Amino acid sequence: MLDCSAIPVAESQAFGLSFAFPPALVAFLFVSLQIVILAAGVGKRMRSDLPKVLHAVGGRPMLALVLDAARALKPARIVVVVGHGGEEVRAAFPQTDLLWAIQDPPQGTGHAVQQAIPLLLKEGSVLVLNGDVPLVQATSLAPLCAAADAGRLAIQAQPLKDPTGYGRVVREKDGHVLRIVEHQDATDEERRIREMYTGMMAAPAASLARWVGALKNNNEQGEYYLTDVIAMAAAEGIDIAVAQPGHEREMKGINSKAQLAEVERALQCALADALLEQGVTLADPGRIDIRGTLTCGRDVAIDINTVFGGHVELGNRVTIGAHCVIRDCRIGEDTVVRPFTHLEGVIIGAHCDLGPFAHVHPDTELADGVELGNFVEVKRSRIGTGSKAKHLSYIGDATIGRNVNVGAGMITCNYDGAYKHRTIIEDDVHIGSDTQLVAPVTVGKGATIGAGTTVWKDVPPGGLVVNEKRQLARPEWKRPVKAAKAKS
Ligand code: UD1
Ligand code: MG
Repeated sequence: MLDCSAIPVAESQAFGLSFAFPPALVAFLFVSLQIVILAAGVGKRMRSDLPKVLHAVGGRPMLALVLDAARALKPARIVVVVGHGGEEVRAAFPQTDLLWAIQDPPQGTGHAVQQAIPLLLKEGSVLVLNGDVPLVQATSLAPLCAAADAGRLAIQAQPLKDPTGYGRVVREKDGHVLRIVEHQDATDEERRIREMYTGMMAAPAASLARWVGALKNNNEQGEYYLTDVIAMAAAEGIDIAVAQPGHEREMKGINSKAQLAEVERALQCALADALLEQGVTLADPGRIDIRGTLTCGRDVAIDINTVFGGHVELGNRVTIGAHCVIRDCRIGEDTVVRPFTHLEGVIIGAHCDLGPFAHVHPDTELADGVELGNFVEVKRSRIGTGSKAKHLSYIGDATIGRNVNVGAGMITCNYDGAYKHRTIIEDDVHIGSDTQLVAPVTVGKGATIGAGTTVWKDVPPGGLVVNEKRQLARPEWKRPVKAAKAKS
C-alpha cells in the first residue's frame, strides 16, 4: 500500500498562519488537476433556511475557506456543485474562476460528482472536496493529488477517538483499503472502526467518471454515495492511497449547529496559537475571536473577549482592552484601545487613546495622538493630530484640525431631517461643555466656544463666542413639596 503521508510535500507555513494572513502561495503544481467541491446537500441537520455552505466560519462562508485551499493548489478548473439554495450560493461567489454544476434534487455525494463530470476535462486528475469541511489545508491535500497524478485513487482519513457519524475506512488484515462504509449502513463491528473518511479524495479523471457512472443507491439513505467508488477501485485491484490531514481539526465536518460551533472554536484556537507563536500577548487564547484577518506588529497585547472582523492591522505595541469590537481598521503604533470600544472602518494613527466605551463608525480617520474618551461617538469625520474629545460627544460629518479640545457633551448637529452637513473646526479651537454646532458651520482657528453655546453661524478665528444668556437668582423660590396623603 502506498502511504501518502510519506510523500514529501512542499514546506508550508505553520497551521493557522494561512488563516491569519492572506492565503500563502503554495508551490504545488499538478498536471491538469481539477477540483470538484460538493456543496449541494440540503443540510437538513443545520435546521436553517441558509444553505449550509454559506454559514460562517471565522467570519466567512465555510465554502470560502474550502475555496482558499482549492485555489492554493492552482487547479486547471474548480467546479462547485450546488443544488438547494444554489442561486444564493452562486451570488455569494461571483468570482469568474468557478464553474457551477447543478444537482437538483440532491441524491447523494456520488450523484453530485456525476453532475460535475460534464464540466471536467477528461485528462488529468480530480480532487473532490466537501464544501462542509472548511478547515482543510492545501498542504494536506497535496499528497492526494500526487497519488492521483500517479494514476491511483487516494483518500484522506484520520483515526478518531469518536468517529460517530462519519464514514469508516474498512481495511483488510494486511492494511489494504477495501471500502468505506457510511455510519448509517455500518454494522456494530464496523462502527467500532476508528479510522474515519474526511470527505476528500483524488483520482484520475477518467476512472472517477467511470466509477461514479456505475454507482447504485441501494443503501440506508437511498443515495448515490461517492464513498462506494473505493470498493469499485479495490475490486479492480487498484492500490488505494491513504493520507492523513496535517492536523485533526482539518477533518472536522459541519452537519449541525453543534459542529459549526466546534469548528469555529477549533479555528479560533489555531488562530490564537499562531498569534502567540508570533509574539502577540493574549490574556486568554480561548477568549479571542478573529472573523477575518488580523495582522499584528511586535509587542501587541490583546485582553479578553475582543471580536476582530474584516481586515484589521495592529501596529507595534498596540494594546487592546477587554470586550472591544474592531472591524476593518488600521491602528498605528503605541495606540491604546480601552475596554468596550467599538471601531469599524477607521484609520487610526499612532499614540492614540480610545475609550473606554468609544464608538467610531466607518469613513473616519484619526491622526496621531487623538484621544476619544467615554461615550464619544464619531462618524464620517477627520480628526487632526493631538485633538481630544474625552467625554460624551457626538462628532458626525466633521473635519477637526490639530490640537482641538472638544468639551464634554459637544454635539455636531449634522442632520436637518433630509441632508447631512459638515462641521469644520480649525486648529487650536477650544469648545466648552454642552455645546451644539449646527452644521454647516465653521469654527475659525484658535477660537474658544463658551460652555452651553449653540453655534449656528460661522465663528471667526480667535476670541470667544458665547450665547447671550442671563443667570437669574431667586432666593425666595421654594421647591414644590407633595401634599401628605389623608389617612382613611
Ligand atoms: C460524507 C461522507 C462520509 C464522510 C463525511 C466527512 C459520503 C456518502 N459520505 O458524509 O463518508 O465521513 O462526509 O465529512 O460521501 N452533497 C452534495 N449533494 C448531495 C449530498 C451531499 O453536494 O446530494 C454535499 C454536501 O453539501 C456536503 C458534502 O457533499 O458539502 C457532504 O455531504 P453530507 O451530506 O454532509 O455528507 P456526510 O454525512 O457528512
Ligand atoms: Mg457532512
